Amino acid sequence: TIPSLSETFYDYFPIGAAIEPHQISNETSELLIKHVNMLVAENVMKPDAIQPTEGNFNWEPTDRIIEFAKEHNMEVRFHTLVWHSQVGDWFFKDEDGYPMIDEENAEKREQNKQLLLERLKTHVTTIVERYKDDISSWDVVNEVVEPQDEDGMRASEWYQITGTEYIETAFYAAREAGGPDIKLYLNDYGTDHPKKRNIIYDLVSELLEKGVPIDGIGHQTHIDIHGPTIASIMESINKFNELGLDNIITELDMSIYAWDDHQDFGNEIPLEILNKQAERYEALFHEFVENQDKISEVVFWGMADDHTWLHSFPVERTNAPLLFDFNHQPKPAFWSVVNIVRDE
Ligand code: G3I
Repeated sequence: TIPSLSETFYDYFPIGAAIEPHQISNETSELLIKHVNMLVAENVMKPDAIQPTEGNFNWEPTDRIIEFAKEHNMEVRFHTLVWHSQVGDWFFKDEDGYPMIDEENAEKREQNKQLLLERLKTHVTTIVERYKDDISSWDVVNEVVEPQDEDGMRASEWYQITGTEYIETAFYAAREAGGPDIKLYLNDYGTDHPKKRNIIYDLVSELLEKGVPIDGIGHQTHIDIHGPTIASIMESINKFNELGLDNIITELDMSIYAWDDHQDFGNEIPLEILNKQAERYEALFHEFVENQDKISEVVFWGMADDHTWLHSFPVERTNAPLLFDFNHQPKPAFWSVVNIVRDE
């Protein structure tokens, strides 16, 4: 018989999966009910989905996910209050519909900045007030750091208009609306990368010193069967743990290709590749289990290989990054992961 993933890791951390709302009413729901005790929305909680135009909030998809989660004793995490991508243009236009970013007049620029921060505050406050009792952890900001941009901060419209104030405003507003018990995270990819890790570390240290309420770091952990090293992933977990922060693995998946690999296995993935993937997942979960006191949630970016963003990113090719295959059957990686705990 096939053991349940979330029951297997029950004493260690919740196991989550990212989903689209339609998946809770198709065959994927069976896998979800059996194997995870946490859900996150793959898209519908993002700014452009939840507040497509100013003042018009689309709650229905998020409500539906929360309702399903409650019915099945699952927690829900929120992704994401702020992002530079998947965010309505309206945020960044002044009252006359003119792009704030093009404004040259200093006084008007300052007014625009205040208007943007006001809109951000309303966005965060409205959402957190509605869902504060339903959400176990919040991605407050996503991908705010970019080592290739000047001074290491992503040169998004948020940053160009407000500097790092948008980050502070988002965390303060979330805390104010949700109270002391809600858990607030800064989420990013490539956090294992030394340069990026250091930029995040410096940013967060500075914000914490100012009193900005940050509870932890979300590590997306979109990796592949070749890299990065598991040691580098754990180095980041340790570094933020030493700063007194919690860590969440927020978007785990493992591409079977290298980034610039142009082959495509189609639906016939060689066993050798699946075994390599299993070995790496095993090594990774071994570390997660050993370091369970530093990691509070482990969330996959999807449930089974039939639905994953990696089929079309960075190029179109059939990918297989998760623990369940195209037919929802457990892969070698599933068994290598559950056996870590079963063997103990
Ligand atoms: O909603 C439209 C729909 O109306 C339209 O018909 C359809 C046609 O292409 O597109 C739909 O939007 C797509 C959206 O997903 C919802 O399905 C976008 O094209 C597509 O680009 C978008 O991709 C999402 C991506 O974020 C956007 O950046 C992926 O599903 C989602 O898995 C991915 O998730 C991100 C995390 O939020 C942050 N970390 C990285 C991760 C992977 O990129």
